[in-house]
Amino acid sequence: MAKLFSGIQPSGEIHIGNYCGAIRNWVRLMDQYECIFCIVDYHALTAQYDIPTMQKRIHDAARVNIACGIDPKRAILFVQSQVPEHTELAWIFNTVTPMGDLARMTQFKEKSKQNEENINAGLFTYPVLQAADILLYKAGAVPVGEDQIQHIELTREVARKFNARFGELFPEPAHLVPKEGARIMGMDGKSKMSKSLNNYIGVLESRDEVWKKLAPAVTDENRKRRTDVGNPDICNIYSLHKAFSPEETVETVNRECRVAGIGCVDCKKMLHQSMMTTLEPIQERAAELAQQPALVDQILEEGAARAGAIATATMTEVRSAIGVR
Ligand code: AMP
Ligand code: TRP
Repeated sequence: MAKLFSGIQPSGEIHIGNYCGAIRNWVRLMDQYECIFCIVDYHALTAQYDIPTMQKRIHDAARVNIACGIDPKRAILFVQSQVPEHTELAWIFNTVTPMGDLARMTQFKEKSKQNEENINAGLFTYPVLQAADILLYKAGAVPVGEDQIQHIELTREVARKFNARFGELFPEPAHLVPKEGARIMGMDGKSKMSKSLNNYIGVLESRDEVWKKLAPAVTDENRKRRTDVGNPDICNIYSLHKAFSPEETVETVNRECRVAGIGCVDCKKMLHQSMMTTLEPIQERAAELAQQPALVDQILEEGAARAGAIATATMTEVRSAIGVR
């Protein structure tokens, strides 16, 4: 079976953008690939974070992933910092990665703008560590949301550069981006949903909490009154229907919005129902796992051991290829 790798940062609550863009597909792909999923804590160091709660965020990220359906029997789930080969390979990749390519990365430019007082070198070489994550396992497929495509393209470039200099060792991995939900927008309908912008709906949020966020969410701004017709094509609530609702509901919303058959509140109520149908079973499993912290720790420990075995084997090849012992 071909190998697949993906990662998520333990930088805050996991939101429905992470779920639709990434985790939901990870679950679907578990049957087709040998899957390796990683909580990338070293990547999260590039932003300001609260040190005492880091362990809790890592543990929670693992718990939510398992609750979403990541099955530790069929996939490896582990924490990046538990396999030191990631940073070792990243260093070697630093020496074949052009500065110019890194300077072009959209995420680097955005994060630098958001965080002018902390533009650290780690933020700059972040995609090199990401390339190391993926290539350490010689993964051929990387399921991610749209915002990560550029980083996977860079990973292919790193693989090519390494192979050209030191011999064919790494595959050029493909990104797998879902048809719906690859770029979930925040409740303002304008910026991408993200942990840092606080415009998100968390996967573990209750029925009431989710409604509090959906109720004031921006829709088609040209639709001012209930009797105005709307345009689903420019409405974020409609995009979310496509990510969460059954086809029948999506069709109804599409049709009825255009003739003012339903209002925005009706439409949001339907979305709320679809979302909770997806989220509540996840929340139940997450609550059960919260009672079994040792089980989650054990899953991560076993995951690190299995990932570590692959990582050690790759690094033996890499060391030999680059001429060190
Ligand atoms: P991060 O939280 O930045 O570690 O992202 C983890 C995964 O979620 C990556 O595959 C991202 O592409 C994906 N992701 C993050 N935000 C969104 C979003 N708003 N819509 C779709 N996918 C997303
Ligand atoms: N950079 C990714 C993000 O923020 C997280 C990540 C780190 C990742 N390493 C990875 C994703 C390897 C896929 C593969 O979303």
